[in-house]
Formats: sequence, structure tokens, C-alpha cells
Amino acid sequence: MTEPLLMLDDVRATLRLRGGHQTLLDGVSFEIHAGEALGLVGESGSGKSLTTRAITRMLDPAFRVSGEIAFDGTSVLAMNQAALRRYRSTDVGMIFQDPRAHVNPVHRVGDFLTEALVRERGVDRREAERRAVVLLDEVGVRNPEQRLRQYPHELSGGLLQRVMIASVLLAEPKLILADEPTTALDVTAQSDVMAILDEQRRARGLALLFITHDLELAAACCDRLAVMYAGEIVEQGAHVYHAPTHPYTVELLGARPSIDQRVDRLPVLRYDRETHELLKAEAS
Ligand SMILES: Nc1ncnc2c1ncn2[C@@H]1O[C@H](COP(=O)(O)OP(=O)(O)OP(=O)(O)O)[C@@H](O)[C@H]1O
Ligand SMILES: [Mg+2]
Repeated sequence: MTEPLLMLDDVRATLRLRGGHQTLLDGVSFEIHAGEALGLVGESGSGKSLTTRAITRMLDPAFRVSGEIAFDGTSVLAMNQAALRRYRSTDVGMIFQDPRAHVNPVHRVGDFLTEALVRERGVDRREAERRAVVLLDEVGVRNPEQRLRQYPHELSGGLLQRVMIASVLLAEPKLILADEPTTALDVTAQSDVMAILDEQRRARGLALLFITHDLELAAACCDRLAVMYAGEIVEQGAHVYHAPTHPYTVELLGARPSIDQRVDRLPVLRYDRETHELLKAEAS
């Protein structure tokens, strides 16, 4: 088997507190291979977001992190600042729950999309804008040239999240970390945005760590699921959704409102670039 793209081995994150410490990630281990999607599910506070922050070394300095995190065989914990910057800006792309919290409100959409290409990769501004227009079109943003001139507040949440996806794809990462990317959007925008993310990452063969509370969505979009509870991965694999073995996973699945619905009955939506329509994928 080839080397995993991302490997976490016994990752612990401990918060030093006055008079003691609290372990918030407790021996987290998983792998994601190139082109593979892993769904990370678990209740609120179980450590999902901390895991993504550990992967990008963005945990608060008060945390002590041990174990190993390797990207493409290189230890992330051992990277120097220059390597870390490269890793964050070119290897890994991040999509968060609230796109508005991650854009500068006084910068136009075009500046947001092209800034990194121009500044960090020396791409000519007009070329960067051309690439941004192509990508906005690919993620289903109509009139992309006009959108480049708008400010974030002029775009709906769903549209802004598409801009976020476009900005991540522009950097051509190998791995996307998506932490609840649709939770803050209204229901119709949720399925649109997820369909686009799913379609684009498959078309480009990108790996994905998809964090969600929605087990059915995770099962529909991912090759494997990992279930987190109190800072630990209690169960992971391709079997998790249909044949969970850990009691917590059984309970988590039982807590869903539609326990009798099987994931393969859920429509997986695909975005059609020509007609700008969402289509139900063929049932497999
Ligand atoms: N900077 C921090 N200082 C102290 N505790 C923290 C910090 N960040 C997170 N925590 C705690 O660590 C635990 C895990 O948090 P995390 O944000 O990873 O949960 P989560 O699984 O992403 O939850 P949610 O589904 O609500 O987003 C929580 O108990 C949280 O309060
Ligand atoms: Mg979280």
C-alpha cells in the first residue's frame, strides 16, 4: 500500500491549566490516502475541530501536542515556519462553517481570490483573475466577472461558501479540510454547496477530511467514517454506517431521526455546470 497522504498517530493535545492539565485529544490515529474522503463525526465538543487545528498546527500555544502528524511522509510537528507556511497555503485547503468569518469584509471577492496567487506564487494579476473566473464558473457562480468586483456582504452565505471552495481549489491543494462547511447555510444552499464540494474534489482526485454532525451526509460523501467521542476515535472504517460495532456509534446512529432510512436511498446531488441545475445522481 502506498504511503498515506495524511497520517495521525497517537496524537494527544493537552491543555496546561493552573494546578493540572486536561487532555482534549486523546490518542487520535487515522490515515487519509490521496484522493480518499474520510468523514469525521461525533457530538459537539468531542474534538473534531481541535483535530483539524492540530493537523494545520493552529492549536492555541497553550496546548502541548504529542504523537505524530505526517503529510506526504513529512512530520508536520517538525516543520519550520517556512515549510509550515507552504504546507498551509499549498498542500492543505480549509473550508469552515462560517465563510463570512474568513473573508476580509472590505476586500472585494476578486482580491480575496487572487491575493495568494499574486503574492505568494508570483502569478500575474490578470492571469490570477482569469483563473478565478474559470473556477467561480466551475463551482456554479454565475456572472463570475461581475462577482469579482463585489464585496462579501453582497453575496449570500451559499454563494460566499462557493467562493471559499473556489479559493481553496485555486491553490491546488492535495487535501481539503472541511469543518462543518454547510451547517451555517440555509437548507437548499446546504445541498448545493455539498454537491459542488463533492463533485469538485472527486473530479480533481483530492483527499477530504469532512467534519459533520450529519452521519448520512458523511456516509454519502466519504469512503470511510471515523467516530469521535471525548477526544478519542472510538471506531473507524467503511463499515461504520451500516454495521457499527462500538456502542457509542450505535447510539449515535440511533439518535438520528431517520434510523430506518438507508444511506443509498438518499439523493446525492450533482451540480450541472451547463444548466446550473442540481441533479439527482443515478442510484447505484
Ligand atoms: N482553546 C481552547 N481552550 C480550551 N478548551 C478548548 C479550546 N478549544 C477547544 N476546547 C475544548 O475542547 C473540546 C473539543 O472542542 P472542539 O471544538 O474540537 O469540538 P468539536 O467536536 O469541533 O465540537 P462542535 O461539533 O461543537 O464543533 C471542547 O470541550 C472545547 O470546549
Ligand atoms: Mg467544531
